Amino acid sequence: MSRAVLLREHGGPEVLRVEEVAVGAPGPGEIRLRQTAIGVNFHDCYVRSGLYRTLPLPGVPGIEAVGHVEALGEGVEGLRVGSRVGYVSPGYGAYAETRRLPASLAVPLPDDLGDEAAASVLLKGLTACMLLRRVHRVSPGETILVHAAAGGVGQLLCAWAKHLGATVIGTVGSREKAEIATRAGADHVVLYREEDFVPRVREITEGRGVAAAYDAVGRDTFLGSLDCLGFLGTLVNYGQASGPVEPISPSALAAKSNALVRPIVFHHLRERAALGAMAGELFAAIAAGIVRPETFLALPLEDVGESHRTLEARRTTGSVILIP
Ligand SMILES: NC(=O)c1ccc[n+]([C@@H]2O[C@H](COP(=O)([O-])OP(=O)(O)OC[C@H]3O[C@@H](n4cnc5c(N)ncnc54)[C@H](OP(=O)(O)O)[C@@H]3O)[C@@H](O)[C@H]2O)c1
Repeated sequence: MSRAVLLREHGGPEVLRVEEVAVGAPGPGEIRLRQTAIGVNFHDCYVRSGLYRTLPLPGVPGIEAVGHVEALGEGVEGLRVGSRVGYVSPGYGAYAETRRLPASLAVPLPDDLGDEAAASVLLKGLTACMLLRRVHRVSPGETILVHAAAGGVGQLLCAWAKHLGATVIGTVGSREKAEIATRAGADHVVLYREEDFVPRVREITEGRGVAAAYDAVGRDTFLGSLDCLGFLGTLVNYGQASGPVEPISPSALAAKSNALVRPIVFHHLRERAALGAMAGELFAAIAAGIVRPETFLALPLEDVGESHRTLEARRTTGSVILIP
């Protein structure tokens, strides 16, 4: 048995409750993991509210965690009891003390990356790697726009893009967040709740527009982001914190030959070789001090509801994790 957050119905943060669930022995190709830190992501809020109906109920939500291998199923190679690993998984089940997991998802962690730091940076860092190094490869000298630049993914994007030689324009929801985005690496910061970011971006880029706009805010910013693009620029819509984006016509992209992409990190990680390569890039970037894990809030598993409330209320500047 294991303590786990069992979602029985969709709703507000109050529907998240810890119960005892059966775990069992790992099957062929599986490991059983005793988890030490669990990453909380916006995706989890959508699963909880019912906006995403991707977790059959009752079910244990959560898509990333870190822990120690407790038992190995038949045929598992390259891991042993006691191995320290992290994972991201579209198959859910991370909000638990102990769980079974396909061994192919386990990523051995560098010794100098602690459990809490790893749970803070794994999914968000792999997402930043996907966005900057795969979806639109950031080149030296170009200017990019990053929305919610003081957020978990946002800070990683600012720091990494800066290192790649880009000029970074970040948008943020408050003055405190402006300081955090600047510290993370943003060259220009726009308070987008007080000022229309589109004319500011035009002014900063002297009318040229940006090479890429990284937009996970969604409904409130999407059309403005499109407006901010220069010729051949790419709108990377990778989330919808403010709500789903209204449909647009492909001809909206024709004015400046723009591209629109809607990437999902799990799709980029579905081959084991790609997971290994992207995790390697992320760990190298952490070791070199290019990006830094930022744990904003660590709460006990029982306070899972509070973790969702804080994230949805825009009060976070960095990652939220749960300690089982
Ligand atoms: N596609 C993928 O594979 C993938 C993978 C990971 C994450 N994501 C997405 O990336 C985004 C960032 O994730 P994160 O965990 O790092 O969260 P986060 O950026 O730390 O938090 C979300 C931020 O979005 C901004 N925001 C704007 N309007 C909002 C609203 N109406 N409600 C709540 N927040 C609002 C807030 O920043 P301000 O106060 O500065 O506006 C808020 O702090 C999420 O949308 C997530 O779904 C996508």
